[in-house]
Amino acid sequence: MLCLTLTGSALRENLKTAVKYRDKADILELRIDLLNRSEYDSAHSFPGLLRNSMKNPPRLICTVRRETDGGKFRGTESERVRLIASLADAPAVPDYIDMEEDFSPDDLTRTLRNKGITIIRSFHDFTGVPIDLTRRINSLTRREDEIPKAAVMPESSAAFLDLIKAYRELGLLRNPRRRKVILLGMGEYGIPTRILAPLLGSWITFCSPPGTEAAPGHADPDLLLDLYRYGSINTETDIFGVIGYPVAHSRSPHFHNPRFRERGRNAVYLPFLVDSVTPFLESAEILNIQGLSVTIPHKKAVIPHISACDDTVRASGACNTMYRSGGAWRGTNTDIPGFLAPLEGITLKNMDTAVIGAGGAARGIIWALIGKGAKVTVYNRTPEKARKAAEELSALGSTEVTGRHLDDLGAGGTPGLIVQCTSVGMHPRISEDPVPGYRFRGSEIVYDIIYTPVKTAFIKRAEKSGCRIITGDSMFTAQAEQQFSLFSGSPS
Ligand code: ATR
Repeated sequence: MLCLTLTGSALRENLKTAVKYRDKADILELRIDLLNRSEYDSAHSFPGLLRNSMKNPPRLICTVRRETDGGKFRGTESERVRLIASLADAPAVPDYIDMEEDFSPDDLTRTLRNKGITIIRSFHDFTGVPIDLTRRINSLTRREDEIPKAAVMPESSAAFLDLIKAYRELGLLRNPRRRKVILLGMGEYGIPTRILAPLLGSWITFCSPPGTEAAPGHADPDLLLDLYRYGSINTETDIFGVIGYPVAHSRSPHFHNPRFRERGRNAVYLPFLVDSVTPFLESAEILNIQGLSVTIPHKKAVIPHISACDDTVRASGACNTMYRSGGAWRGTNTDIPGFLAPLEGITLKNMDTAVIGAGGAARGIIWALIGKGAKVTVYNRTPEKARKAAEELSALGSTEVTGRHLDDLGAGGTPGLIVQCTSVGMHPRISEDPVPGYRFRGSEIVYDIIYTPVKTAFIKRAEKSGCRIITGDSMFTAQAEQQFSLFSGSPS
């Protein structure tokens, strides 16, 4: 279920938000501590206002969160007790009240129960994932009818693994008959737990209207429902995703999720922030993740974890796609066919080509060009690396491959194709050009593999000189299409 947290400072404003998201939220949470102090005294009227403003309103949680638990309530504990008691006294009462584990004046909890209000018993850990998380959740509630809630802060892939293990230990993971527990990870590492709540077994997930994030990692309800199809995620959903560090700006979720939707496939594709591949891949086993796009800086680190890698991985020393076959991981590098796709129709055989860069991305591209019979010169800031890449990769083909210093580009004649494979010019350093001294003749085809921005400073300069240009977004799309075929088990 999806809970929309109302974060406005005035009740009227929150009511407007509630009406706006009426069809999207299953539950609303009024954060009384986020209201202006002057509104505290009328907070008890909110359940009634909600019922008067719409037919069958969503259920309501009321929360008065203290600063120590990540909230904004600055009053005394007795003020807080009075505020909560006033909610129980009103003619219309909320369905749930969130109370921290150490807050339980007996009289008050009895009064709440007598009014039919269910208590959500919560704890927050903003410093990590407690080692005894499972035990703490199991001992959180005082009575059967209370709902335990824990929000913890995984700040590494190892902590993410601890959190995933807790869902399993609590018998919540992919279990359609689980009990009501709310367990969520905060922060960027926790985002997948918020999206996967129905699969992991968290009774609800929290979201807040765009720009008003009530807790670290809260998602926008439209993104959850439209991009991630939160309403369709269940215990049977197949999980795919992209791993990287950073990963938040990856375009891959926007590419794969709509395609899974078009195919009617019960699958979701998520961004996973990963600082260390080994613990993450252990989580991937527990979650039974079916496929992963791999991005910077993990393309090399995943290789030892893969049972079978193809030639694209061996040649480039990099793997950008992991997919399951017979339970085991297979690895490929779709950047290579993705790179070649926009060059279709161009005769590369015997063409003089220049590759700028000698890193993992460049190696895959050099290998692809050799495979097409092109003559390749590798230009790199560190020429020894260019020569090493040339030497190693020339053994794989029958054409000439040489390595030179970056400043030599153009010295031996004008290449037919120049491929830019370094990170120079990538967002945010968009004014940088890897070869500012090189004069384009206009006859070169110029290809930059960077796609943020779509037109780099280097590409803009080539375009101005009359060169035919190929931007990184066409390579991105082509490699992602290849990935989707592998993920979906059918041609895209
Ligand atoms: P990737 O796997 O993405 O290719 P990499 O292996 O770190 O990343 O390689 C980065 C490439 O960009 C290298 O060729 C690097 O040149 P060096 O080998 O001399 O380090 C190149 N590169 C990075 N920053 C550069 C810069 N400011 N100017 C020129 N080349 C640069």
